[in-house]
Amino acid sequence: MSSPVRLALLGCGTVGSEVVRLLHEQSADLAARIGAPLEIVGIAVRRLGRDRGGLPVDEALFTTDALGLIKRDDVDVVIEVVGGIEPARGWLVEALRAGKSVVTANKALLAEDGAALHDAAAEGRADLYYEASVAGAIPLLRPLRESLHGDRVNRVTGIVNGTTNFILSAMDATGAGFAEALEEATELGYAEADPTADVEGFDAAAKAAILASLAFHTRVTAADVHREGITEVTAADVASAKAMGCTIKLLCIAARGRDATGAETVSVRVHPAMIPLTHPLAGVGDAFNAVFVEAEAAGQLMFYGRGAGGAPTASAVLGDVVAVARNRLAGVRAASESAYADLAVRPMGEALTRYHISLDVADRPGVLASVAGVFARHDVSIATVRQGSTGGGRPGSGDDAELVIVTHVAPDAALAATVGELRGLDIVRSVTSVLRVEGEA
Ligand SMILES: NC(=O)c1ccc[n+]([C@@H]2O[C@H](COP(=O)([O-])OP(=O)(O)OC[C@H]3O[C@@H](n4cnc5c(N)ncnc54)[C@H](OP(=O)(O)O)[C@@H]3O)[C@@H](O)[C@H]2O)c1
Repeated sequence: MSSPVRLALLGCGTVGSEVVRLLHEQSADLAARIGAPLEIVGIAVRRLGRDRGGLPVDEALFTTDALGLIKRDDVDVVIEVVGGIEPARGWLVEALRAGKSVVTANKALLAEDGAALHDAAAEGRADLYYEASVAGAIPLLRPLRESLHGDRVNRVTGIVNGTTNFILSAMDATGAGFAEALEEATELGYAEADPTADVEGFDAAAKAAILASLAFHTRVTAADVHREGITEVTAADVASAKAMGCTIKLLCIAARGRDATGAETVSVRVHPAMIPLTHPLAGVGDAFNAVFVEAEAAGQLMFYGRGAGGAPTASAVLGDVVAVARNRLAGVRAASESAYADLAVRPMGEALTRYHISLDVADRPGVLASVAGVFARHDVSIATVRQGSTGGGRPGSGDDAELVIVTHVAPDAALAATVGELRGLDIVRSVTSVLRVEGEA
């Protein structure tokens, strides 16, 4: 057995404390798998006096000086489970440049400035692993980064935020509105006191950027991702989806496409969308995550599991620790960042989507033709139209009627312009619901 691989742990909260526990409980097995024991030489935290629930670790290991810990000569691997942009970026760049391997769960940092970390890793010839940053326990980044490197990924569609999936699943199951479902999620511990990052789609957008970067060999940042959250999804939207044999999910979608010149591009977006109940992602309920990958030769692949929580996330962190420890012992490093394709990221307006639109219209002759004319003017083709009376009266009696229109695929900007013009028609009393539709109905 070789001499120990020495670990600096930055952060000992929800994830960090589970990393400590698993390292302790599985130390013999991990040592056997790696060929050397793993040894924690220091743990950086913000508050030294905090009660850590009897963690199996020597109190003397705790420090508030993260940078000092990273710089120690006896540190081989830095595990970062603090989160946030700074000071984490400075710490990890320092570690990587010094040739220390880094394992991090920090999706926010990778999505905002993954380039700084990858460049530092290349400079220091060090390993940078971040499996835990997307979809918690689910092995997903390594398959994208290694197993699928012989293939060509065309599209990645995922449910990557457990909080919003819990909320939408609850709305679907009970008919509750967004506020009520959020309250339930908060009570059960699925939503944080400030749920903004989850419900406004920031968390999912960071993960979308990381997935797109790996899938398409292109640097994609959170700023490149079109983002819409779920706060505007209503009980009526959910009912409308159900009536169509669909459910609503907050999806992250990263897809190849082509621009007007024929050059290959990618589009990356996060928004709520209706998907048919037959779609593999439709049955992903509660706070679970799942990612559906479509590749040229492999076809369709589905990754499913727990996307968050201390122990599931720590499992992904430890998998990375084993990989980097083995690499160190073998004197090798993993393949570096693959960003050679350098595809342009397409604006949302050019992304090809389908819309489901519900309108409250005046029930009189010629209305359908006027509405259809708006779609035609924007070159948007209608797939289906359903009409019903909302007032219960005779057609042409002056009551309102409901029109539910589903379009064929069109550029998002054309669809949005169509809805904008519909809102301005005097025969349209209100546009009651607009949702994108994904997957074959
Ligand atoms: N929780 C999850 O389910 C989950 C899932 C996937 C990924 N992640 C990612 O994992 C990372 C950690 O998340 P978490 O939920 O474990 O966070 P957390 O419970 O808030 O823990 C953060 C830890 O960082 C320490 N810390 C904060 N500022 C520090 C500083 N300036 N110097 C040294 N230590 C500092 C805290 O110290 P004190 O203990 O003294 O406060 C705490 O131990 C984040 O990047 C998150 O996005 C989390």
